[in-house]
Amino acid sequence: MSYILVVDDEEDIRDIYEMLLRRIFPLEVVLADSGNSALKIISERGDPKIVVSDLNMPNGDGHFLWTNLKERKINVPFVICSSDAIPDLKKRFPNIHGYVEKPDIIDSVISLINSVISPYDTPPQYVPVRISILLRWGGADFDLYMKLSPSNYVKVIHGGEAFVPEEASRFRRKGIEFLYITAKDAESYVKNFARNISMVVESEGNHDDLLVVSLESLEAVNKISSSLGWTDEVISAAKHAVNLAVKAVSREPNIVHLLKKKLSGGPTKFSEHISKLALLSCAFCHQLGWTTESTQMKLGMAALIHDIALDDSYYEDINYWNELARDLENKSPAVVKYRNHTIEASSILLQIRDLPPDVNHIITQHHESKDGTGFPRGLVAGWISPLTSVFIIVEHLLDFLDGEYGSEARLREFIKTHEETYDSGNFKKIFDVLKSYVEN
Ligand SMILES: [Fe+2]
Ligand SMILES: [Fe+2]
Repeated sequence: MSYILVVDDEEDIRDIYEMLLRRIFPLEVVLADSGNSALKIISERGDPKIVVSDLNMPNGDGHFLWTNLKERKINVPFVICSSDAIPDLKKRFPNIHGYVEKPDIIDSVISLINSVISPYDTPPQYVPVRISILLRWGGADFDLYMKLSPSNYVKVIHGGEAFVPEEASRFRRKGIEFLYITAKDAESYVKNFARNISMVVESEGNHDDLLVVSLESLEAVNKISSSLGWTDEVISAAKHAVNLAVKAVSREPNIVHLLKKKLSGGPTKFSEHISKLALLSCAFCHQLGWTTESTQMKLGMAALIHDIALDDSYYEDINYWNELARDLENKSPAVVKYRNHTIEASSILLQIRDLPPDVNHIITQHHESKDGTGFPRGLVAGWISPLTSVFIIVEHLLDFLDGEYGSEARLREFIKTHEETYDSGNFKKIFDVLKSYVEN
C-alpha cells in the first residue's frame, strides 16, 4: 500500500503532520526524522505517493534527500518546508511539486497533497493521537477515547485532565500506543499545535537584552533539583525554555518597558522570585514528561509576568500577604490591592498579541486553590488546568522553602503537610509526581 512520507527532525512537527494527514487522506502516513532514514524507508517500502520534507535536519537534510531521490530516478512529488523564504527555496529546488514556508504549514501542505491524493469521501469520525504526544504536551483540551472496535469507542480521559507518565504506562501496559479524539476536536487540536509551534519558531528569531535569570536563582533551583534527584539535563532544558519565554514576552515593547523598570538596579526580590519560579516550573514540567518546548515556555512566560502588577514591598513577607488576602472579608486597601494583582496583571497582558490562553489562565488563577480558600475569586473546586496546577504547586513550594533550597527535610515536610491540599484533580496527579521524587 502506498503512503505519504513526512520527513522532519522535530518530533512535534512530525506529530502534527501525522494527525493532520490521517484525518484527511486515506493513506498511511510514515514518519522519518532525517534524509537518511527517509531513504531507508523508501528502499524497504517502495516509493511513496508524495514526500513532504523539512530542509534543515541533521543526518541528511532536505537537499540531500531530494538530490538522492533524483539520482535514484525516484520521481515522486517532493514538497520542501523551511523557514527560508519561498523565492530562495525555488532557486535551490527548481521544479519540485511545492514549497512551504514555516511556520504556517497546515493549509499549504494540505492543498499540495490534495493535488496528488484524493481525500476521504467520508472522513473517519475518530482520529488517533499518540500516547507519546499526549505526554509530551501534558494532555489535551478534548475528551480522549479508547478504540474497542472499528465502530466502538469509549471515553477514557476528560478534556483538560493532566496526562502524567503513570497514565502513559497504564495504557502502554495494555499494548495501547494511540488514544482517539473526535474528528471535530482533531481540527482544533491540530490548530492549537500549530499555533504553539509558531510561538516557539517566532520567539527563536527574536533577540533582546532582558537579563532575567540571575546566578543566585540558578543556584537555588539547582539545589532543589539535585535534592529531588533530577539530572542536569532538566536544568538545561528549563534554561532554554525560560530563554524562549523571555524572547516571547520581549516582543511587546510595553511589557519589556514594565519588566525593565522592575528589574533595574540589580537583583531584587521580584527578579529573584520570577526567575526561580520560571526555572523551577519549567524544570518540573520537563520532569513530568511534558518536554514540548511550547508547554514549558508557557509556564516560563506566566512566571515572568504573573506578578507584574505587584509592588516590590509585598515580597518582604509574601506568606503574610497571602494569608491576609485569603480572608475575603479583609477589605483594607493594601490587602485589596494585593488580592487583585492577578486581575491587574491579566489586564496589562491584554496588550500581548496572541498571548496563549493557557498563560492567561495561569496568571488569573495563580492564587486560587481547589477548596475555595484562594483569591481573588475563591473558586470552589474550580477546574484548574494542568499547567496552572504545576505553577501553583511550584510557587507554593518556593514560598514554603523560603531560602532553604538544599534541605531535603524541608522538601519532605512540604509533601507531608500538603498532601491534603492537593488531593484531587490535576493537583493530585501532579503533586503525586513531585512526591515520588521526594520519596525516592
Ligand atoms: Fe508570585
Ligand atoms: Fe502572585
